Amino acid sequence: MNNSFDLNKILRPHILNLAPYSSARDEYTGHVGIFLDANENPYGSVTPENFNRYPDPYQADIKKKLAPLKNISTDQIFLGNGSDEPIDLLIRATCTPSKDRVIILPPTYGMYEVSASIHDVHIDKVPLSEDYQIRVDAVLSAITPDTKIIWICSPNNPTGNVMQDEAIMAILENFSGLVVVDEAYVDFTDKPSWIGRLSAYPNLVVLQTFSKSWGLAGLRAGMCFASKELVKILNKIKSPYNISQPAQAALLAGLDATDKMENMVKEILEQREVLCTMLEKLSLVNKVYPSDANFLLVKFDDARSVMDYLLNETIIVRDRSKVLLCEGCLRISVGTQEENVALIEALKAFEEKKEII
Ligand SMILES: Cc1ncc(COP(=O)(O)O)c(C=O)c1O
Repeated sequence: MNNSFDLNKILRPHILNLAPYSSARDEYTGHVGIFLDANENPYGSVTPENFNRYPDPYQADIKKKLAPLKNISTDQIFLGNGSDEPIDLLIRATCTPSKDRVIILPPTYGMYEVSASIHDVHIDKVPLSEDYQIRVDAVLSAITPDTKIIWICSPNNPTGNVMQDEAIMAILENFSGLVVVDEAYVDFTDKPSWIGRLSAYPNLVVLQTFSKSWGLAGLRAGMCFASKELVKILNKIKSPYNISQPAQAALLAGLDATDKMENMVKEILEQREVLCTMLEKLSLVNKVYPSDANFLLVKFDDARSVMDYLLNETIIVRDRSKVLLCEGCLRISVGTQEENVALIEALKAFEEKKEII
């Protein structure tokens, strides 16, 4: 290991010394009794189901179910309001505004840049190579004494590919800040998660989400796996009750339905294959990029007019044609069999229309 990672040096000094808010549910963790400590409404709620009590601030029951699934201890799990919350909190914990810096590897997920900008944190961009891999030497050269986080998305959004292990390892071993591997799409690849390497790399942070494979985007629930020292810090700076009671209840039920999640993933993977084959047959498609995610990046002759035609047919895809290294590309989520057929039929109709003109 060529780095001198020390969490205490990476954290903003005032965060290290911060006395967190102590909620009523922090101070009394029992489940029975007459609860007169949190200024709640004792009569219930205005809704048929009661939500009058504050939820568990640390989501202990969920972590107990999640830990064996991820083969990690509960104190290495942080749960957030979507994985967008830990993205924000990691920057808050480590980056002093208008001083510190983060490195992102475009084209990639937009929130790393937006969250850094919100905090007035400088962003150094090291574009991926033409084949969407990490240019390790360029990344290592971009590191400054003020660089606190390097964001790696694997499988990457919007390109869909997994980053090479050796590249991530080289960065982990040669950078003394946090390396965040965002695995929002990990369940759609057969490559193993980086969670298994957390004990080897104290500067590694892994993000996952319930929004994709679990089908729970509307709940807003994301996972962050890290050293227990860093998880403690994230718990200290989050808002006290960041996962709502209904979200916690739904997550608890969802975690018992792993077979349903696996079946949906299997279906999406089959549909990804079918959709890819159908798209490749169309003459207006230049290239379908290989995908380890639940979407395809597709290059068209004229992406904007394809997008407009599809919009007119109320088929909505994501225009990535202005994004660096994605010129001419649309990002298309894998739909159900019926949705994918409708998309292909619309694209065929567009092709025919163009031939007539
Ligand atoms: C790579 C990546 N990370 C994180 C997220 C955010 O996920 P969540 O819904 O958990 O906030 C997304 C959402 O599309 C994503 O693509």
